[in-house]
Amino acid sequence: MQFELTEEHLMIRQAARDFAHNVLKPGVIERDEHQKFPAEEIRQLGELGFLGMMVSPQYGGSGMDAISYSIVMEELSKVDASTSVVVSVNNSLVCYGLEKYGNEEQKQKFLVPLAQGQKIGAFCLSEPEAGSDATSQRTTAIDMGDHYLVNGTKNWITNGSTASTYIVMAQTDASKKHKGINALIVEKGMEGFTVGAKENKLGIRGSDTHSLMFTDVKVPKENRIGEDGFGFKFAMATLEGGRIGIASQALGIASGAYELSVQYAKERKAFGKTIADLQAIQFKLADMATEIEAARLLCYRAAWLKDNGLPYAQAASMAKLFASETAMRTTVEAVQIHGGYGFVKEYHVERLMRDAKITQIYEGTSEIQRIVISREVLR
Ligand code: CAA
Repeated sequence: MQFELTEEHLMIRQAARDFAHNVLKPGVIERDEHQKFPAEEIRQLGELGFLGMMVSPQYGGSGMDAISYSIVMEELSKVDASTSVVVSVNNSLVCYGLEKYGNEEQKQKFLVPLAQGQKIGAFCLSEPEAGSDATSQRTTAIDMGDHYLVNGTKNWITNGSTASTYIVMAQTDASKKHKGINALIVEKGMEGFTVGAKENKLGIRGSDTHSLMFTDVKVPKENRIGEDGFGFKFAMATLEGGRIGIASQALGIASGAYELSVQYAKERKAFGKTIADLQAIQFKLADMATEIEAARLLCYRAAWLKDNGLPYAQAASMAKLFASETAMRTTVEAVQIHGGYGFVKEYHVERLMRDAKITQIYEGTSEIQRIVISREVLR
């Protein structure tokens, strides 16, 4: 068993850490306050090869492993989870799905620009009445011979307005339930496809989350991913990898808040000494450090299983469940350690606390992760 990162992993970690510190940190408070999408920052991440990290160089990607992806997600999320969610969705939910299940033509046309960071992708599964219960898709894709006619609404779509390429799950044959769902590639600008207002969110406020409306959108048959009826399995299989990304995002939010807390505890004086000398603070820091280390090991294990072609659904859900709960607990404690300073924006921990909450909700709530884990346990 090998617990050490390779030289290459360490170099990637340093590059992501430098980027987070030098490029993301200066504007992060302003972007959060004004809900400003990190467009220039995402452009630079594309140039670094961080938007198609695991895609083969043949399709414009960086050909890195899932452990590298987890490392980059942690480092970016320590500073700016609004930016890292864009990285996660583009890498795991869009590029991965296209590379694994798309045909050669789809890869050339859609994957290459996404992996190179010239375009951004979105993954459209959630609906007003189908969040956790993803089999109950109300969006329809009627088979019209050479195209599908798509009608419906998707909710809470990350990269909703900034994406150019959308993978949309829609029901073609309701009698077949989940086996009647298709995954279709919808392009921005297709007639009848409109983007709703931006959501005003508690956290990850820099990311653009929108509803999408489809009214008689004609999607060519060649834009269907996989065989007829493969859409639900496509979504589930893609989400497995996505959960490693969000677990690593949660890990990063937790470790960002922890590092700020250690630094603050060593500087802040009270009762004639630094608060780091108080056992009440030491115990909090010890608990944070332990939980973060456990979360990191779960993330790396899930990534390692994926890299080695082994089943990783349960491991990804365990990582996401534990890391997201750790992010919530750690950030609440980080605000407590900072006292009144923790409640104001300049000290960053209040934002990390708000950002942590979504990691328990998107790409499957904590309850959904428990369903996936317990099914494996009871199999
Ligand atoms: N890989 C491949 N196939 C899978 C699979 C996987 N990981 N998981 C399930 N399937 C298959 C099953 O084998 C089954 O196929 P068969 O009928 O051929 O056997 C089929 O899919 C149906 O599976 P289930 O019976 O398990 O389906 P279910 O209705 O009981 O639900 C669920 C399973 C785990 C609850 C699932 O609905 C789920 O994960 N829900 C949460 C959805 C979710 O994560 N949404 C997030 C939206 S995306 C997002 O948040 C992105 C963002 O913007 C950041």
